[in-house]
Parts: sequence; C-alpha cells; structure tokens
Amino acid sequence: MPATVVVGTQWGDEGKGKLTDLIAKEMQVVVRYQGGHNAGHTLVVDGTSFALQLVPSGVLYDHITPVIGNGVVVDPFVLLDEVATLEAKGVDCSRLRVSGNAHLILPYHQELDRLTERYLGKNKLGTTKRGIGPAYADKAMRVGIRVQDLLDPAIFRQKLTAVLGDKNKVFTRVYNRLPEDPDALADRVLTEVAPRVEPYIADTVSLVHDALESGAHVLFEGAQATFLDLDQGTYPYVTSSNPVAGGACTGAGVGPRAIERVVGIAKAYVTRVGAGPFPTELFDDVGDHLVTVGREFGTNTGRRRRPGWFDAVMLRHAVRVNSLSELAITKLDILDGLDTLRVCVAYEVDGVRHEHLPYHQSDLHAAVPVYEDLPGWGVDLSSVTERHQLPDEAVAYLEFLEEQVGVPVTFVGTGPGRDQYVHFSDAGS
Ligand code: IMP
Repeated sequence: MPATVVVGTQWGDEGKGKLTDLIAKEMQVVVRYQGGHNAGHTLVVDGTSFALQLVPSGVLYDHITPVIGNGVVVDPFVLLDEVATLEAKGVDCSRLRVSGNAHLILPYHQELDRLTERYLGKNKLGTTKRGIGPAYADKAMRVGIRVQDLLDPAIFRQKLTAVLGDKNKVFTRVYNRLPEDPDALADRVLTEVAPRVEPYIADTVSLVHDALESGAHVLFEGAQATFLDLDQGTYPYVTSSNPVAGGACTGAGVGPRAIERVVGIAKAYVTRVGAGPFPTELFDDVGDHLVTVGREFGTNTGRRRRPGWFDAVMLRHAVRVNSLSELAITKLDILDGLDTLRVCVAYEVDGVRHEHLPYHQSDLHAAVPVYEDLPGWGVDLSSVTERHQLPDEAVAYLEFLEEQVGVPVTFVGTGPGRDQYVHFSDAGS
C-alpha cells in the first residue's frame, strides 16, 4: 500500500504544489490532512492557473479522488466558492470528498481571529485571520461543530446555540461587539450551505484505507510547514495544526506504517510570513533580490514574505521530525546572478556552536548563524531540465545541501513552469 507524504520543511510557501503536480500522475487519491484556507498554492496546469486554498490539488486531474481529511478545518462558504470557481474554469469537482469528521470554520471563528490579533497589538502572531486557531481551539475544547453536523439540522442548531451562548459573552463583554444570532446563522448555513456540501461528505478514513488496500497510490498533501507545526514549530509563532508528516496519520486516519515515502520541500533560500524567530533573515539587497525576483508575496494575503539564506540546521531538524526520505529544492533559479551564496551550517548561541536546533525558544532568538560561502553561478537556469546542464557551481551548491542535510535532493525547481525542473539524485542513493 504505497503512500507518500509531501511536507514543507521551512515556514511554508516552499512550492509544494509544484512537486505535487510532478508526482500526481502516479497518484489515485490526494488527501489534505490539516490546516484550512490559510494555505494557498497556485498550480499551472495546461496553461491555466489555479489558486487553491482548501480543495486538494488532486482535483485538477481526472484520475484522482481529492479528499479533505478529518484533520482539516473547513469553512463551508469558502469551500463552495472554491468549487464554483473551479467548475467555472471547467474543473469537475464531483469526485471531491470531505470528511464528515472535519471541523467547520464559521464566521465567529474568523471574527475571533481578527479580534485577538488586534488586541494582541505588537505581540500579534500575524495569523492569516481565517479563523484557523479559534476553530482548532473549539475542537480541542470539544465544542467544535463538524461537517457531519450539517446533515442533522436539529443537532446543528442545538450545537450552534450552545457554542454561541459562550462566544457571545466574549463578543459583548470582552470586545464590546454585537452578539451573533444563532438562529440567523443556523438558517443561513442550513439553507445556503448544507444541501450543497452534502454530496461531498464521506467517511474518508474508509475511503483512504480501501484505496490503500486495493494498491492505489495515495498522496498526503501537507499545508503550511514543519516550523509552523503546533508541536514542532517555533511556538507560539505557528499555526494551530500539525503539518509534519505524522499529522497525516491523525489528520487522515492512517498508521505510520502506511507511509513509505516522505518528500520534504525546501526553497533554495528561506521565507517566513508573520512574526517569529528567523536566524538567517536578511535585511539587505540580497533579501530584496529574493523577494522581488522570487515574487515573495502571499498568494492569499498579499503580505511581503521575510527572506533569508538557506538554513541547514532547520533542515536537519525537519529530516528528523518528518523521517524525510528525500528533499525537493524549489526556486533554485531565484539565486541566479548572486555572486556568493551563504548556507547556514550551525548556530552560535552565547559562544556555543549548535549543529542541531536548540530546543529553547530564547536560544533560537539569540542564535547567530554560522555560514559557509559558496560561489554563485552567473547564468540563467530557467531552461535547464537535465542535471548535466547545470553549471558546476549549482551542482556544488546542491551537493553541499545534500551533505549538510543528510538526504538526497531528488527534484530541483528551475522555474515556475511545469517542465522547469531537474531530476538531481535518486531517492535513497
Ligand atoms: P494561522 O494559520 O492563520 O493561524 O497563522 C499562524 C501563522 O502561520 C502565521 O505566522 C501565518 O503567517 C502562518 N501561515 C499560515 N498559513 C501559512 C501558509 O500557507 N504559508 C505561510 N505561512 C502561513
């Protein structure tokens, strides 16, 4: 039962969509296992560009069943909008399946996300304000409302009335806002949303296991990334779910032995959106080059991403916590024309060298990167599709990353197009 996980190894926006596109032809099922519409990736298929937030990228391929697993938080209004947009572009969404156990994001979650961020002031996390944290908090508090509740109007109304009783006290007494009317919201969801979402609702755990048992290839598609993981990331500057490969187990309902390949995606440099520690962050012309040439602005929010050099300390940690079997490096072409490339190989904290990520947050804030410098390549990589066409300096850079990180670099992105990539090393070689 071959299952693969694709996981981001930095702070997100590594270009996971491109790798997913490359391996999609081998897959029969693609499952999102965490996050919600805080994710955003753009895929270009047959010359048409698709910006997906919630629906798994598998929807773009006729032979794939796209699945939203139980670990995802689903804003049903966004889901229906996305389906409508895709269908208007000729994409058939009838194969989409949504776990009845996934939790719903409802308007009060988004409102709470906005309000908490505003009241945190300079201590804000820089969330996407999509209601992700409040929805996962309700799940943990056991007051969440699930997709399956849409199928039972009486239960839906009862749960919504109970939860809003509590939330409305917060809205009115803490934030001086108007309360949300449970009956009006229930009417809206049950008439506008429920009948349209119903055809997609399924027991996705059984679906995934039936597929695996029949020998189908299943791809678990992570959103966000390792260092935004609630447990393994740079807490509290993280998202509220588990993007790491193990999140596929809880978020889709499989055991670890079901997964045989874990592909980590890393950009040839690093970016981060929102607040939080970032040892290799750049504030100079090179940083501007990475942002401008790499078009490092959020797909969803339009925010400028913070740029920095490749950090092998982070990547070693990502290899460990995800059991990475291989690495795909994206956007190598963005480094074209830079004279010197720096790779962070260790941190120094109070004069002590760390090859591995220090567990204490204060150490991470104080970490000074130890760099090794490599020569850049003065040429344009955008037409390179074979390893032997890469300039020696690019090969040396990639081999240096392999040596530093300890897993083979299998794919290398050399441009945004579907065919702009190089097969660099074999997996497991
Ligand atoms: P939330 O997921 O909206 O709660 O935001 C928490 C943190 O995760 C913030 O720093 C966001 O900028 C970051 N984040 C969430 N989704 C993404 C993503 O898809 N790419 C990059 N950063 C993200």
